Amino acid sequence: MTIERSEAETVAYTVENRIAWVRFNRPEKRNCMSPKLNRQMMRVLDELEFRDDVGVLVLTGEGSAWSAGMDLKEYFRETEAQGLGATRQAQRESYGWWRRLRWYQKPTVAMVNGWCFGGGYGPLFSCDLAFASDDAIFGLSEINWGILPGGGASKVVADLMPLRQALYHAMMGENIDGKTAAEWGLVNESLPADQLKERVVAVCQVLLEKNPVALKATKDAIRRVKEMTYDNAEDYLVRAQEAANSFDNDGRKEGIRQFIDEKSYKPGLGAYDKSKQAQ
Ligand code: COA
Repeated sequence: MTIERSEAETVAYTVENRIAWVRFNRPEKRNCMSPKLNRQMMRVLDELEFRDDVGVLVLTGEGSAWSAGMDLKEYFRETEAQGLGATRQAQRESYGWWRRLRWYQKPTVAMVNGWCFGGGYGPLFSCDLAFASDDAIFGLSEINWGILPGGGASKVVADLMPLRQALYHAMMGENIDGKTAAEWGLVNESLPADQLKERVVAVCQVLLEKNPVALKATKDAIRRVKEMTYDNAEDYLVRAQEAANSFDNDGRKEGIRQFIDEKSYKPGLGAYDKSKQAQ
């Protein structure tokens, strides 16, 4: 199907009840990532990151795909034809928004509604949490067309999957469904397609109740400490906590007050009531 989308039309988004729903928007191309889409996604992330009416971001896809990975024509063939400079620029534009998303200010959730291939593993990993439809299909198809899983995809499976599954997945070029993706650690959960959105909304609602400064510090901490020794992690966490405290003294004090003095909640069983916090 020949649909010429403007750069701005390659990504769609809406904000409802403090949830930003960001959608890969090239369904006719199975939402594969072209240089245009990569540039537009960075603009959309910029636009949403510090908006007061956004508390959590969900990344999903229009149509039958989440994302069929990199655009083999526009990202690979056409940029390679323009030489190394263009190739490196296209890489920077895609890796750039994935990195931006990995360290995003707001919590992020991937809602994998369909096909998820190759380069798609980059943004999948960038999202803090991931939920898939049982009938979503995941694959490292690179081996099927003659390259290695680059653009971070090898790193993603090595980090998320047990080694045997990572090697099998990357070397065999066989696809897995949402259920297997959950078993192998690529996503948190897999659900029947008609329950996926409801579950993601419920997760977002929980996140929206949490202290936002603590959430940002927590998500960064988990990613950072993964590659540290225990002692380095301990030190990093002391400093990260102190830095978070200086951003949000009131929230933390209120959390302690409601537990210790008011006895109105238990941090082990739920979050404190943010509405009682003095603004
Ligand atoms: N790059 C470029 N174009 C792509 C694409 C990609 N990664 N994925 C899909 N498309 C295009 C197809 O060329 C087709 O374009 P056309 O209508 O102009 O012919 C259109 O999107 C629809 O794709 P189609 O293959 O007809 O859809 P499908 O639903 O039958 O199959 C897939 C879906 C995802 C299985 C199949 O499109 C596919 O294998 N895509 C490549 C996946 C891949 O290897 N990605 C890794 C890249 S790192």
